[in-house]
Amino acid sequence: MTLSPRQWLRAFFGALEALCSRAFTPAWNPLLQLGSIGWFFFWIVAVSGIYLYVFFDTGITRAYDTIETLTHAQPWAGGVMRSLHRYASDGLVAIALTHLLREFALDQMRGKRWFAWITGLPLLVLIYVSGITGYWLVWDVMAQYVAVVTGELLDVLPLFGEPISRNFVNESSLSSRFFTLMSFIHIAAPLLLLLFMWIHIHRHTAARIQPARGLSLLVLGSLLALSIAVPAVSQARADLDMVPATVGLDWFYLPVYPLVQQWGGATAWQLLGGMLLLLGLMPWLPPKSAPPVAKVSLLNCNGCGRCVADCPFGALSLEPRSDWQNYAVEAVVNADRCLSCGLCVGACPTATPFRSASMFTAGIELPQLPLASLREQLKKSCAALSGDDRLVVFACEPAGDLSGELRRNSAVAQMPCIGMLPPSCIDFVFSRRLADGVVIAGCTANGCYQRFGQCWTEERIAGQRDPWLRARVPRERIALSWAVDLRAFRSGLAALPPLRLSGRDTGKPGLLLAGPRWPMPVRAVGMALLLGVLAGVTAVFATEPAWRQLEPQEAVMRLSIRHATATKIECKPLTPRQMADLKPNMRRPVDCPRERWPVYVELERGGELLYRGTHPPSGLWNDGAATVFRTFRVPAGPQSIVVRMRDSGRESGFDQVRSGTIDLEPGQNFVIEFRSGKGFIWEDMS
Ligand code: HEM
Ligand code: SF4
Ligand code: SF4
Repeated sequence: MTLSPRQWLRAFFGALEALCSRAFTPAWNPLLQLGSIGWFFFWIVAVSGIYLYVFFDTGITRAYDTIETLTHAQPWAGGVMRSLHRYASDGLVAIALTHLLREFALDQMRGKRWFAWITGLPLLVLIYVSGITGYWLVWDVMAQYVAVVTGELLDVLPLFGEPISRNFVNESSLSSRFFTLMSFIHIAAPLLLLLFMWIHIHRHTAARIQPARGLSLLVLGSLLALSIAVPAVSQARADLDMVPATVGLDWFYLPVYPLVQQWGGATAWQLLGGMLLLLGLMPWLPPKSAPPVAKVSLLNCNGCGRCVADCPFGALSLEPRSDWQNYAVEAVVNADRCLSCGLCVGACPTATPFRSASMFTAGIELPQLPLASLREQLKKSCAALSGDDRLVVFACEPAGDLSGELRRNSAVAQMPCIGMLPPSCIDFVFSRRLADGVVIAGCTANGCYQRFGQCWTEERIAGQRDPWLRARVPRERIALSWAVDLRAFRSGLAALPPLRLSGRDTGKPGLLLAGPRWPMPVRAVGMALLLGVLAGVTAVFATEPAWRQLEPQEAVMRLSIRHATATKIECKPLTPRQMADLKPNMRRPVDCPRERWPVYVELERGGELLYRGTHPPSGLWNDGAATVFRTFRVPAGPQSIVVRMRDSGRESGFDQVRSGTIDLEPGQNFVIEFRSGKGFIWEDMS
């Protein structure tokens, strides 16, 4: 059998999750609470960011110094806060991407589950915007790299009249304007992120936004240890007149940046846009057919509200009564949100198989699986069982094929989620002597596909949640598949005293653990080691491997032109007749067509053509300035250059020409600029 990529990924996550649950218990399994850990990282980033901002000067000239002072003058406060800020931000990227992969692998995003997936995508974008603008604020060489490459990326979009890159051409062109905008975005983006995080979990009842306390402490501890062991520091101060040959890059945030340099901004946007589009279409690739939604039977609903409390997807509400019965409210299903998981059926106190056949319709049911037919099917298949280890297996659909152990001498009743099982059904099995044991087979512990199926089941059996399993039911005859060794459970059944509904609680369900678990201190150390390894990986990829953007003997040459050429047709006076033909508000003495000539430019280096291109004027009416901004890697050393421009619509020849010999230092950022009235200028010749 060949597995699809999704099935491979699912098997991978399944194996890893099982391993982590076994080692650390499901409650501490980080893979089962990626979303909650994401929230936790967000709060660490927010708190440390507020601290940093108190000391930060948003002006471009002081930014580098204030961060350096903060890092070195108060290493135990500012330095640690800075490191926490950086590493938790990296952690947020890693967690969000792993969370995305897991949701994809478990197919928790198709059909009506599209909402969380689609609202997750802006989170990803906002995380990247927050991180990238954050690196900008340090104004070291990585910030310089980010500024220049982001400029190249943004210049491809028809959003800005003037190329953004021109703000970072050289030290003399640098202004605080863009930098201040970045510090504004760096605060606005996380606030938007928080808003979207809230929207993201909007359709999840009681969304888990806090990891288990022990796990939170260990995660925070590992981040603190990392911050102290490998403090986050700045690289060399930015200098726009030089281009650093190598830059330490944060590969969590900037993996696309080298591609922008290699392939150009347009290709990078196509790649990013294509990926986002594909991700955005995922919930409908292919479309998932939706089973019928839960249906309320008003005759049997007393408006108790238990189904509303237990629905994991906020698909139920209590509304004023619409029938003749003397109750104030009734349950109403929102069909757009109902995932047909059946948890509401398990919650409804009227869902009891002890009712007579004619009466047996619960207050809420899944039309495709009425409890009455479940009961009949169960009675029929149990009649075929024999011996003293007869089993009834209530299994959820995501649990998939059941193992041989569960198939032997057993009657299996499958349902969308084991949370659909009313506890009274277990009571029914024993009181009618249908089987010797009951197995409840669900997904992996703490990883229920329908979110709360296992949790509600455990609480109902333990008598902690309404409707609970009556105390008289022998708990030692019930096994939860995610918590017990089924073989041991089955063989133990024969050794139990004869089945008797005693009227009092006889034990706890499913406490035969699947295998020896580590004691708490060992678990904590094991988890600390695992987090230590993850922290180490974070520290490495936060700056390594360094990205080489120039060879040691190379320099950079930039051509920067912004030029409003002459209009194509000269202004000519209108005759009185022509003026009279115009509407009164349009009458004017001269007619000036607005369209300008394009700019044609050539750049030659050492007698070879480096660049040639025609650039149209900007604006809807082609009446704005034409802009040219191009970057070239060239060998350092002495060389001749010639730059020519045609801006008057002539067929041949040039309106502006300048040539000269220059001597470029390795890493030098050499800028050829055009200024109206002055022509082409460059630093050592102007
Ligand atoms: C800042 C980053 C993110 C955070 C903090 C976050 C947090 C959460 C939380 C807390 C939940 C609810 C878990 C539960 O209670 O069952 C959740 C569910 C979900 N998230 Fe995210 N998430 C993030 C990013 C993303 C991204 C990027 C995607 C994918 C595009 C995504 C897709 C989903 C899906 C599909 C679910 C629903 C799963 C279900 O239906 O049970 N999330 N997320
Ligand atoms: S079937 Fe599931 S999603 Fe639908 S109303 Fe019931 S509990 Fe909510
Ligand atoms: S749990 Fe049953 S009785 Fe209570 S409100 Fe829901 S459908 Fe009605």
